[in-house]
Amino acid sequence: MTQKNPLIQTLQELETEALDAIRAALDGEALEVLRVSYLGRKGRVSGILRGLGDLSADERPPVGAEANRVKEVLQEALEARETEVSASREEIGAPAEDLTLPARHRWSGGVHPVNQVIDEIWTIFQSMGFVRARGPEADTEWYNFLALNTPLDHPAVDEQDTFYLKDFVLLRSHTSPVQVRTMEKHEPPIRILAPGMVYRRDSYDATHTPAFAQIEGLVVDEGITFVDFKATLAEFARRFWGPGTKVRFRPSFFPFTEPSAEVDVKRMITMKDGTRVESDWIEIMGAGMVDPNVLENVGYDPEHYTGFAFGMGPARIALLKYGVPDLRMFFQNDVRFLSQFTSQSLSQLTDRDAP
Ligand code: PHE
Repeated sequence: MTQKNPLIQTLQELETEALDAIRAALDGEALEVLRVSYLGRKGRVSGILRGLGDLSADERPPVGAEANRVKEVLQEALEARETEVSASREEIGAPAEDLTLPARHRWSGGVHPVNQVIDEIWTIFQSMGFVRARGPEADTEWYNFLALNTPLDHPAVDEQDTFYLKDFVLLRSHTSPVQVRTMEKHEPPIRILAPGMVYRRDSYDATHTPAFAQIEGLVVDEGITFVDFKATLAEFARRFWGPGTKVRFRPSFFPFTEPSAEVDVKRMITMKDGTRVESDWIEIMGAGMVDPNVLENVGYDPEHYTGFAFGMGPARIALLKYGVPDLRMFFQNDVRFLSQFTSQSLSQLTDRDAP
């Protein structure tokens, strides 16, 4: 057997070295550098092939064959490694688990938008010295109508037709009975705010619901005038809707106030482009100076005391505030709608946590 040609030895060493380098390469760029340095025109394997012409006729075939074999082995190894590194790059691009996904939050619920509005209104009146009062939702004809100067055959009773539980007991059709209950128990000065649910035989549509919240206000003291009445409600409107808000008092009628008014506001609205425009007039409450007959009914001397009262619907105010088109949306208990009014949105809910 003839001695192994030293070029074959060199080729085999080259092969081992190149295969190690290919296996260690981490990306296509590194593989391309290796391909050029071994198989490129000026590469090391190509150099040996180019020098074949200098060899003897005996030496030429085995060295040529070995050089071609090494060339093929390296070409295959480069291709195989190329496939591997590009596959692992795809894996990094689309991993099975997205580690950047925010952690899941616990569903903690929130304050209903109508109650949020009640809280806001309460905070304003509280800062003006009002205290909170409440009365029963099932009340008597005396408190709901008669003491409020409303005979049962008065047309106002038809407007506030309600559910009778038994003889004289009914679901209150407004929060005004709290005026009477408070004045019966306390001497002036009186400054109360009384939120609560009321019930009427009303339709269920975009602007009416047969059960709804009201907020009653009552002020009684010596020397309370129409000026106090207008100034207090205008101040409330400006604090709730902003300093540019205009207030209008339209003559109206309620059996328990004289004179009576419906209070409208005109708000300043900021458009998407930042321009400020005035809204239409919108009615926010019924109100008036407390009728002397009501003061007499609770044993106050109407020559000595005067006062004003108002009643508003926080759901309608919430409707305006949030631009909600239909009152019923507040009561359908759809958590996708309601969760918009909490700091936590539904997108943070998990299937397991969703109610
Ligand atoms: N109770 C009246 C209503 O429900 C509103 C109101 C309250 C009017 C107080 C005047 C004074 O329509």
